Amino acid sequence: MTDSSFACLSFLEDETSHLFELMIEKAEDTATSLLLDIILQETRKHRELLKHLSLVFEKGASVSSVECEKMGEWFTQALALTRAVKAGVESGMHVPEAARRLIDFEKGVGEEYVTQVHATLRASIQENEAVKTVLESIAEDEKGHAEILQFVIELAARHNI
Ligand SMILES: [Fe+2]
Repeated sequence: MTDSSFACLSFLEDETSHLFELMIEKAEDTATSLLLDIILQETRKHRELLKHLSLVFEKGASVSSVECEKMGEWFTQALALTRAVKAGVESGMHVPEAARRLIDFEKGVGEEYVTQVHATLRASIQENEAVKTVLESIAEDEKGHAEILQFVIELAARHNI
């Protein structure tokens, strides 16, 4: 239970959006950039929705990565992975390889997003139907992201044959 769960999630989506901006920039073909742009646009949407939730329920608290460690192990791992993959791409890791590193995590987070986030929310917020709807819509998008990443990996494999 924290008073900055939404702010922390928004912060994670912001970091993720920077990673996808970089991956789009470094992608070696237009199909890959287009596919990754779906994830980028949805990640920006998530950031804004979570910012909105934070404004409503947390007075728009601003947070740092250290404060967000209280979100739990999954959050810390997600942030670390996002930053590690971004550093990798900056120093020459190929985009399909970056997609490979992200996919397992995306799948896990997509499936458990609502459960994991609920664990950090106050009971009064957990019961809010509008909050539930927003979180479920984000979780649905995250599942789609795993599929798009899989497609990016398949495209790269086809080109190498
Ligand atoms: Fe997201």
